Amino acid sequence: MAFTPRVFSGIKPSGDLHLGNYLGAIRRFVPLQETHETIYCMVDMHAITVWQDHVDLKRWTYEIAAAYIAAGLDPKKSIIFNQSQVVEHAELSWIFNCVARMGWMERMTQFKDKSGENSENVSLGLFAYPSLMAADILLYKSTAVPVGEDQCQHLELTRDIAKKFNHDFKKQIKANGHKGNFFPVTETLAIGPAMRVKSLKDGSKKMSKSDASDLSTIYMMDDADLIAKKIKRATTDADALPSEAAGLDGRAEAENLVGIFAALSNRSVNDVLGEFGSQGWGAFKSALADLAVSVLTPIADEMKRLVADRGEIDVILRDGAARARAIAQPIMDDVRNIVGFVR
Ligand code: TRP
Repeated sequence: MAFTPRVFSGIKPSGDLHLGNYLGAIRRFVPLQETHETIYCMVDMHAITVWQDHVDLKRWTYEIAAAYIAAGLDPKKSIIFNQSQVVEHAELSWIFNCVARMGWMERMTQFKDKSGENSENVSLGLFAYPSLMAADILLYKSTAVPVGEDQCQHLELTRDIAKKFNHDFKKQIKANGHKGNFFPVTETLAIGPAMRVKSLKDGSKKMSKSDASDLSTIYMMDDADLIAKKIKRATTDADALPSEAAGLDGRAEAENLVGIFAALSNRSVNDVLGEFGSQGWGAFKSALADLAVSVLTPIADEMKRLVADRGEIDVILRDGAARARAIAQPIMDDVRNIVGFVR
């Protein structure tokens, strides 16, 4: 059988999508359609590791599906679906709960950050979160995963789970007719520039839906006036723009805005600074506002159209889930056999 490079990634429906999700994830998913078999999902089962209102959860799930499509994912090329539609994710994650070790899970920094002082009172699901993520990826024997920096440790764990499964069940894997490893060692796809979009109000913090300031985050569904207002009010320093990237060192807010400009215009930071270097912030911010509006509003308009009538998305997700199952089910049949489940 020919080797298929297969990409899997997912976004958690737990808040409104923002520019960081677009530049850091969604936009990068699109070109991979040309080089890989691509599977993209909304990870609703991950979302409920912390409390979610059911109306919001559905709304955010549709919003991500709409953003995928509006940003250029073609549902004929990519498999687009909702995690809970393919129950095998849950089944494989249970098996992985029995492969992963407590010590590995306890080292996950995201769990430590999210549970904080409150670790006795968070859900068991939040602790097991990375094991479900490994199941998402390995259920399709995915070979590559594009994710942000904050997920690299989870991908490391995914590789550890794959290796331990391959090792622990070596004999049965062979007896089932597989040569070599059963699960691949999945690679992390390199993090491109402008991956780390920061808050417009504080360049040391990630742009996020949980920011206290309304003006710190550009949402994908913001209208043109709001985008322009947020950019014009973004925090900057008192100096003019530098003429080269090196001049951005130690200037987090400046670096963020120039990085956003470069990413939205597909230009390098040096190229952008070649144009705006030594100017004040006024002209730059108005050019950035125009650019952001021209890139984001057509996507927002298409998203609004899609979420207004959920029927079109429902059809796409049902089809995606069926295609996802067609890949997952034979793999799960093998896994059950390898583990020793009687069917
Ligand atoms: N944990 C990821 C995040 O918070 C979302 C996710 C779940 C994911 N399953 C995945 C990403 C599988 C990539 C592959 O961003």
